[in-house]
Amino acid sequence: MLVTKTIDQFNIARKNLKGSVGFVPTMGALHKGHLSLIQRAKEENEHVIVSIFVNPTQFLEGEDLDKYPKKEEADMEICKLAGVDVLFVPTTNVMYGSDELKILAPKIKGYILDGFNRPRHFDGMLQIVMKLLNLADPHNAYFGKKDAQQLSLINKMAENYFLRSKIVPCDIVRDYDGLALSSRNVYLSQDEREMALSIPSSLQKASQIIISGKLDAQIIKKSMIDILEKNVSSIEYVEIVNRDFEILDSVELKNTIILVAAKVGTTRLIDNLWI
Ligand code: PAJ
Repeated sequence: MLVTKTIDQFNIARKNLKGSVGFVPTMGALHKGHLSLIQRAKEENEHVIVSIFVNPTQFLEGEDLDKYPKKEEADMEICKLAGVDVLFVPTTNVMYGSDELKILAPKIKGYILDGFNRPRHFDGMLQIVMKLLNLADPHNAYFGKKDAQQLSLINKMAENYFLRSKIVPCDIVRDYDGLALSSRNVYLSQDEREMALSIPSSLQKASQIIISGKLDAQIIKKSMIDILEKNVSSIEYVEIVNRDFEILDSVELKNTIILVAAKVGTTRLIDNLWI
């Protein structure tokens, strides 16, 4: 595995990859969710590139940029064992210059849900993903459904900017107890983790209601909120949208995403279920 830190090093490594390339951008502290993306990229491409970069422009003032978990050695070992060809680990100075032009998230879909609670988060996310896709120039780029709104906006950017890479959505990987894997789960105490399990439980409840034939969004949201309220510190949103992130009154089979964002202690967690 080649570890590259500068643009020149990366460009040389990229040029030497002949054949199809799969790319998995990450912020590190790798877990089995990230690994599933890497494994899928490995299966579907001749070469795999992974980037690890904690992107400052997608963190808001007062968020966890400074304490975001870092596990450089372990991450490198995971990538090596997974058969990654090129690992890109740039610094902020490598990725950003001064007075840069910006990619802006769409005015509506970039500012609802996660974008409402974290205004401009998606601008920074799209900006770095655009830079990374341009550098890696992959045939396929892999993103998790865990970050459903992120995935939807990246798809939109790929469409609006005529990007050639195919954006490949990947299923959510959960821990043994049902909690969606996230680099931020390490912030949770034992008690908080117990409370956080109400998030996947609320989504399971939603799924049971839908299976029983009730598709009304208000009924589903109400029973999810009932479960969450008893456990989490605050609910940021419970919402039911279609694949284009338009709010639904009624579940549309094969075209619905049920979304939750909640705080447990000070840790913000998101999860969702694709119906
Ligand atoms: P990060 O949170 O490190 O996630 C990297 C990729 O892993 C994302 O596509 C995310 O959706 C996916 N992922 C995270 N947890 C997952 C899980 N439990 N199951 C499946 N996939 C999972 O998302 C980012 O980084 C950044 O915003 C990034 C796209 C790298 C831009 O900075």
